[in-house]
Order: sequence, then structure tokens, then C-alpha cells
Amino acid sequence: MPDQTSKTHSSLRTVEWKDNKVIMIDQTKLPNKLVFVEYSDYNQVANAIKTLIVRGAPAIGVSGAFGLALASLQSNAFTKDELLRDLEVARKILFETRPTAVNLKWGLDKIMQVALQHSDVNDIRNSIIETAKKMAEEDVQINMTMGRYGSDLFDNNDTIMTHCNAGALATVAYGTALGVIRATKESGKKIKVIATETRPIQQGSRLTAFELKHDGIDVSLIPDTAVGYTMAKGLVNKIIVGADRILRTGHVFNKIGTYQVALIAKQHKIPFYVAAPLSTFDLRSNPEDVVIEQRNGSEVTGIGDKKTAPDGIHVINPAFDMTPPDLISGIITEKGVAKAPYEESIKKLFEAN
Ligand code: MRU
Repeated sequence: MPDQTSKTHSSLRTVEWKDNKVIMIDQTKLPNKLVFVEYSDYNQVANAIKTLIVRGAPAIGVSGAFGLALASLQSNAFTKDELLRDLEVARKILFETRPTAVNLKWGLDKIMQVALQHSDVNDIRNSIIETAKKMAEEDVQINMTMGRYGSDLFDNNDTIMTHCNAGALATVAYGTALGVIRATKESGKKIKVIATETRPIQQGSRLTAFELKHDGIDVSLIPDTAVGYTMAKGLVNKIIVGADRILRTGHVFNKIGTYQVALIAKQHKIPFYVAAPLSTFDLRSNPEDVVIEQRNGSEVTGIGDKKTAPDGIHVINPAFDMTPPDLISGIITEKGVAKAPYEESIKKLFEAN
């Protein structure tokens, strides 16, 4: 267990703004150590996103916004044009850290728009910081609303499978998919969770199992290779995952392995749900436009520091895959649940926004 266990997990913040610094949980150290890192330079935030100190689509969206808030404080600009130039340099560095989760672009764009709305440099700085803090606060509220909508889809005594970590650690707090699981439990229903290990870097075992155990939610860990076995044996009633990007057609980009979980669920007629805020939707792109992040092969040829494959082999290590809409039973958002046909139901969610 982590060094520090006195606070309950839901009271922890994955990322927060304090005294003009960004504080984050270093997720690379979990589950063995609960370590907080503190940054006053946006380049450090960019590096934290790139190296997965902070990860998960909503968490990196808010981290990007906080990165720009730091950049505004670091800038020596005296005029609006100078400040905008400095912010644009920072925006580009932050944007280039990870390509698939659309929340990063959403967070950065929102702050850049705010910067344009004022003329005095100090007014710009203040309103950037206030907006980024508000985005963090809203993330938690949105997750709780999403949780309430989603909990209606789950029944007493359900065993729910989840993949990767779409929890408090992937957001500012509470979580998307795990937020729905938390809300279901809070509504009084008894539930159990099956968490996939999520190779290669084990967000399921390191983060989801840690979070759920910490909150007293019954969790069983399985290797990714046991997904078919558990479904075929009738050990799973429903599945819920998060998302890094959802297209207007309902195509869902999420952690590598999500597609095969959804395919096996279809085979066994098990409902497969996705939970994500509207900031995860990309209404413009087509499936072929989305860049899938390819990560270092060393994540696959070893586990932690231990080598588990021979040197000098080829590795394919995509971080995300795409699940088509016909495998998805519903997409849970803070505005309600979208169901097929997705093009229509997603449009309605945005019209209601
Ligand atoms: O590579 P990661 O750990 O950033 O990938 C995270 C995921 O794929 C999550 O499932 C997704 O971001 C949803 S988080 C609420």
C-alpha cells in the first residue's frame, strides 16, 4: 500500500492548482507510493503528460489548461501581443505531448480563447488562472452528474468489468467509468468489479485496483487474456469503460484492448457502456483522421524494469484502439445517455448543451 493512506481516495485530487503551482499525483509511482509532484514551469507539465505522471483524457485536458496558466505567469510580456506569442509557444509544446485524447486540445483551446478576451496582460493572466481552476472544479461536478445518469443502467448484484483506468486518477477526481461505478454503489446497490490488468503499463492493476480497493469497492483483477473466459463463464453482467475521443458517429477511441473487450461482449450479449464528458467528443474528425499514439517498445518487452522479451525484436505498441458504434450499448455523458443511432443521439446531446 502507499506510504500515505490516511485520506480516502475520493478526497485526493489527481491534479490541482495551489499557490501558483500545479500539484499532481505521480501516477508512475502507484500503487507502491503516493507521491505528489509540484510544478511551476509549463515544460514540467508537458513532460509529466508525456511520461504519464498524469494520464487519462480529462486529467490531461485540465493539466494542459494549468500548463498554460503557468506559462502566463512565466511570461515577461508587457503587451497582449507578447503574452499571446508566449502562450502560443507553450500551447504547441503542451499539445504535442500526446495525440489521441481530444480533451487536451479542448483544454488548451479554451484557455487560448479566454486569453483573447482581455487587453491588459494582468487581466489575461488572472482570467486564465481562474478559468483553469473552474475547469478542474467542473470536471468533478460533471463526473458526479454522469455517475447519476449511468447508475440507472446498473442493477443490484451486478458484476461490472472495466478496462484501463477511467477513474479519479484519470480525471480531477471521482472518475468517468469508475464515477458511474461509485455512483451505483452510493445509490445503495451492491456491485462487484472485475478490472483487467491492461498491459503493457497496467493502468488496470496499478491504478483501477488501487482506487477501488481504497474506496472499499469489491474488485477482482484479471489478466487481459482472461476477458473471454470470465464472460463465457457468466461472471460478468455489464461492462463500462472511459474514452479518449468519441466521434459524431459514435466511434470510441480508448485504451488498447477496449475493442477486443467490446467484441467478446457482443458475442456473449453483455451490455458494453462508455462513459465520457462532452469534452471527449470530436464532432469534426473521421475515424481515419485520428492519430493513434504509438509508444515505446520497451513497455512491451519488459514489465517495469524487468526484461521479459529478447533484445532486438520488432514491437508494435499502439496505446489506443477504436471500438465501432455497433458494439456499444450506450454512451453516458453529463447530459444523458446516447443510444444508437449515435449520429442522431450525439447531435441531440450537443443541442441540449
Ligand atoms: O494512456 P492513458 O493511461 O492516458 O489512457 C487512458 C485511457 O485510455 C482511459 O480509459 C481514458 O482516457 C478514459 S479516462 C476517464
